[in-house]
Amino acid sequence: MNNTDKLYERRKKSVPNALGIFNPSSIQSAKGALIVDADGRELIDFAGGIGVNNAGHGVSEIIEAIKAQADKFIHASFNVSIYEQYLDLTEKLCELLPHGESTKAMLTLSGAESIENAIKIARAVTGKSGILCFDGSFHGRTMMAMTLTSNVKYKEGAGPYAPEVYRLEYPYYKPSMSSRMTQDEFDDLMIMKLHKTFSSIVSVTQTAAILLELVQGEGGFTVASKKYVQYLRKFCTENQILLIFDEVQSGFGRTGKWAAYEHYGVTPDLSTWAKSMGGGMPIGAVIGKQEIMDAVKPGLIGGTYLGNPMSCVASLASIQYMQRNNINAAGEKVGRVVRNKFNAWQAKYPQNITDVRGLGAMLAIELSHPTSGQPDGASAKTIVEKCLEKGLIVITSGTYGNCIRILSPLFIEDHLLERGLNLLEEAINETLG
Ligand SMILES: Cc1ncc(COP(=O)(O)O)c(C=O)c1O
Repeated sequence: MNNTDKLYERRKKSVPNALGIFNPSSIQSAKGALIVDADGRELIDFAGGIGVNNAGHGVSEIIEAIKAQADKFIHASFNVSIYEQYLDLTEKLCELLPHGESTKAMLTLSGAESIENAIKIARAVTGKSGILCFDGSFHGRTMMAMTLTSNVKYKEGAGPYAPEVYRLEYPYYKPSMSSRMTQDEFDDLMIMKLHKTFSSIVSVTQTAAILLELVQGEGGFTVASKKYVQYLRKFCTENQILLIFDEVQSGFGRTGKWAAYEHYGVTPDLSTWAKSMGGGMPIGAVIGKQEIMDAVKPGLIGGTYLGNPMSCVASLASIQYMQRNNINAAGEKVGRVVRNKFNAWQAKYPQNITDVRGLGAMLAIELSHPTSGQPDGASAKTIVEKCLEKGLIVITSGTYGNCIRILSPLFIEDHLLERGLNLLEEAINETLG
C-alpha cells in the first residue's frame, strides 16, 4: 500500500463517507501547476483546487504576505477592531470591479457565504422575497445556497429548503440545436419563457432578484446567451429586480477577464466572489452598487471571521500578482490552446464528444453514449482515473458528471499545459478509441 492509499484508509476511519472524492489523488507540496503527491510523484494540476488556484501554487508574494501578517495579528474581528488589511482589499475590489458609478464590497469566507449575503441584501433592499435561479446551477452548500443549487444529488434528503425560490431554464444554446432553431430563435424562446414564469409562477412585484452563473461551473461550463443576459439586465431594471451574477468560479481571469460579465457588456447590481480571489486562502466577497449595499440596515450582514486579516492580505497579494502578470492574457492564451485540442478531439470522436463549451480558459468537453446519446458519466470517470495513473489531476462536472473540465492554474508553463493535454488525450484515446 502506498502513502496515498494509506491516507485514504485513514480517511475512512475519521471522515464521513458523504464527503465526495472528485479525484483520488493526494498532495504534500505544490508549486506553479505541479503537485507532488504523498508518494513523491509529480502530477500536473488541471483542477486548481476547483478553480481556486488561477494564480498557481506557491506564489512567493502570497506566502510572504501571509507570514508577515501572522507576525502582526491573526484575528481581531472587523466588527470589533477595524484594520487596514480589510480596507486595502475592499478598495481594490471596488476599483477592479466597479458596479456603476460608486461601488462597495463586503467580505465573506466562501462562495456559499457570499451567496447567502447577496440574497439577504437583495431581499432587504427590495422588500420582496422571490429569488429566480436556473437549472444546472451550483451556488454552494449552505441552506440558501443549496436551495438555489439545481443538482438533486447534492440535495436529496437534506431538505426542506428555503421557500420563495423559483427556477428558470438556463439559456445555453448548444450548437447541436442548430438543426432545429437558430441562436436568435432560441434566445427569443428563452425570453418568452422568462415572461411566462412571471405570469404563471411568480409575480415581478414579489421578485427580489435573479441569480445567474454566466458560465455554470458545476453545471458543466454551459455559457449563458448574450442576448438573453442583456435582456435580463433591461428587464430587471424596469421591474426593480436585482440582477446578481455568481462569479465564484468564473472570476479572476478564468474567462480571460476579471469578471465573466465583462464579456456581456452588462453590469450586475450585486455579484458574488470567492475561490481564486483568495489565492488559496478562504475568502469571498459580495460586491454591489453603493446605493444597494448602503440600503441595508446595520447588523444584517456580518460574522466573526469575515474578512479575516490573513485571508485579506493573501487575497490582495494574489490580485496584485495576477494584475502585474496579466492573468487575463494568460486566461485567453490557455483558453486558445485548450479549445484547439478539444475541437480536434471532438472532430475525432464526434459521437462521443458531443459538445466543446466554455468561455476563455473555462472549458469543458461533454461526453455522451454514441448510440443512445445519453450522458456518459462512466467514460468521464474512467478518463479521470486514467489521467491520474499517467500523472494528471483533472475533474469532471455537469449534472451527470459527464463533462471533463479544465481549471488549471492560468500561469502554467507552455510545456506543462502541452504535456497535461497530451496525457488527457492518451486517456481519451484509451477510453473512447
Ligand atoms: C459558481 C459557484 N458558486 C458558489 C460556490 C460555492 O463556493 P464555496 O464552495 O466556496 O462555498 C461554488 C463552488 O464550487 C461555485 O462554483
